[in-house]
Amino acid sequence: MKLHGKSVLVTGAASGIGRAIARRVANEGPSVVVCVDKNESGASAVSNEIAAAGTPSYSVAVDLADREAIELLASVVTERSGGTDVLFANAGVSFGGGLDTLEEAWQTSWEVNVMAQVRLARSFLPGMIERGGGYIVNTASAAGLLTNLGGLSYSVTKHGSVALSEWMAITHARDNIKVSVLCPMGVRTNMLFPEEGRQNEEHRLAQAAVLEAGDVLEPEVVADKVLEAMDAEQFLILPHESVRGFYSFRANDTDKWIASMARYQQRLGGA
Ligand SMILES: NC(=O)c1ccc[n+]([C@@H]2O[C@H](COP(=O)([O-])OP(=O)(O)OC[C@H]3O[C@@H](n4cnc5c(N)ncnc54)[C@H](O)[C@@H]3O)[C@@H](O)[C@H]2O)c1
Repeated sequence: MKLHGKSVLVTGAASGIGRAIARRVANEGPSVVVCVDKNESGASAVSNEIAAAGTPSYSVAVDLADREAIELLASVVTERSGGTDVLFANAGVSFGGGLDTLEEAWQTSWEVNVMAQVRLARSFLPGMIERGGGYIVNTASAAGLLTNLGGLSYSVTKHGSVALSEWMAITHARDNIKVSVLCPMGVRTNMLFPEEGRQNEEHRLAQAAVLEAGDVLEPEVVADKVLEAMDAEQFLILPHESVRGFYSFRANDTDKWIASMARYQQRLGGA
């Protein structure tokens, strides 16, 4: 799908991958780019920058863990710009930790990484169908196809995001709704490189695993790959080509895959 003339909404637009996607999309001549984030000043800085360069854009501050706030977002967007043709459900959270992960961290991961994508689709899909079709890109992670060493709640919820995307791609093909799921490995953003002092042991393990497994891509490179894949309407967006090999290894010889991942984890010191 080409984005020229389309009404586009990006969540997690205040920083990292979402900001890069919003900026990249703005170059394609969309009718509007709506920047959504709980970080109000970050999202408005991005929409102001896009608008100053000549593409209509505005921001909406939303906590995507809040169901009612997402419903309100849909009515604000319908009123201000008539709906959304292309939805990037990109915002996400990551908590390091295993079975000891706090209930609150599980809940936030579930709300933001999975339910926000369900609720955004529920809110925006009927309008897309009415207009004859649309495109939804959910950001999951390579952790949604493989596993995230040191990050249990992240692995589980990102698998949920991949499952949701696959289900929607199959079920709404009849409505001319295209769906893609973005599954990168390491990307240079605040999530992978948090501020000093905000990392725990598990986060350090997750970071070490990602840094050793492949290149860390710049968010701009990921945004380019996303638009290329949308042009070709590919379901699986893998900015790191090696993830395809890991994914097929996992499917073809799951026991060997698990044994090799366990050795990898022990080598990284996360036994
Ligand atoms: N950075 C990586 O290595 C990497 C790898 C794979 C997948 N991802 C995924 O990419 C997506 C974007 O993350 P990023 O790497 O750009 O990190 P980031 O921290 O730079 O951006 C995440 C954005 O989401 C927003 N956000 C978080 N919780 C929110 C909430 N409740 N309501 C509204 N906004 C919220 C944050 O304010 C932030 O602007 C996430 O879904 C993440 O899981 C990142």
